Amino acid sequence: MVTENNRVRDLFDLTGRVAVVTGGAGLLGYHHGAILAAAGAHVVVLDLAAASPALRADQLQLAHGPECLGLAADITSEASIESARDVIIAKFGRVDILINNAANNPKVEADPTGEPKQWSRLENFPLAVWNADIAVGLTGAFLCSRIFGQEMVKRNAGVILNVASDLGVIAPDQRLYRKEGVPEDQQPVKPVTYSVVKTALIGLTRYLSTYWTAHNIRVNAISPGGVFANQPDEFTQKLHALIPMGRMANKDEYQGAVLFLCSDASSYMTGQNLIVDGGRSVL
Ligand SMILES: NC(=O)c1ccc[n+]([C@@H]2O[C@H](COP(=O)([O-])OP(=O)(O)OC[C@H]3O[C@@H](n4cnc5c(N)ncnc54)[C@H](O)[C@@H]3O)[C@@H](O)[C@H]2O)c1
Repeated sequence: MVTENNRVRDLFDLTGRVAVVTGGAGLLGYHHGAILAAAGAHVVVLDLAAASPALRADQLQLAHGPECLGLAADITSEASIESARDVIIAKFGRVDILINNAANNPKVEADPTGEPKQWSRLENFPLAVWNADIAVGLTGAFLCSRIFGQEMVKRNAGVILNVASDLGVIAPDQRLYRKEGVPEDQQPVKPVTYSVVKTALIGLTRYLSTYWTAHNIRVNAISPGGVFANQPDEFTQKLHALIPMGRMANKDEYQGAVLFLCSDASSYMTGQNLIVDGGRSVL
């Protein structure tokens, strides 16, 4: 007998599906993988070797049961993604879900290049950082979509979820990053690449969403707001004031939306960007 309880379970059940999460060993990627594994998916944690993807996959498997796989891969390299695909297909035979989650996330405070302190300002923004951020956040998502999308085409089914950001739909408020006593031309700012990559991912989502409809591949984006990760009080207080819900997200608070978008619960949804930001972008 089909009960509503079964219907709830069926909508969110991912038993036997194979989900690739790029940047899956990172702060949010791990939690995205965890909810998919909890719903029954075999999760492939795809990340740089330095992020220990195999260890993170073991943690997922131990916590949730389905066999998971950690693979060291660099998503800026076609050859690296293709090797990962070959290992995944040899092991699981299919790819059902791809979450394009990896990004460079350049920290406003840190200096990735040895350039002077104001490196993040547009006038000084190093071309090397621009290229590197776009290579991971955008080109990486394109390459993974192309390579894993073709596995979905073969089976006439699949879901791609691109992880954008609230800053894919609103401008950064540079007042958040201001430091007392620092001259105007040296004030740190949110790097331009963040806005560019996240906005472009929403464009990639729209493009792909109509490209493979005949193959039953749905493509959506999620735009999370900022996650609390022990940022300084001065920053969080300013940010909380911009968020109607008055707080940043917890790192597991996108799991519901991720499961919805990766499961049959969203079976008639494609090409959309689900904004989950405590209301920040509605103001
Ligand atoms: N944390 C937030 O507040 C927040 C808010 C909105 C959106 N996001 C987005 O969510 C996603 C995850 O963010 P996070 O906070 O978990 O960041 P994170 O830095 O913890 O994770 C990113 C992961 O990507 C991996 N990665 C980087 N370059 C790679 C490459 N070339 N190949 C493979 N993997 C690579 C890193 O090793 C890391 O594990 C990002 O797209 C980020 O922009 C985060």
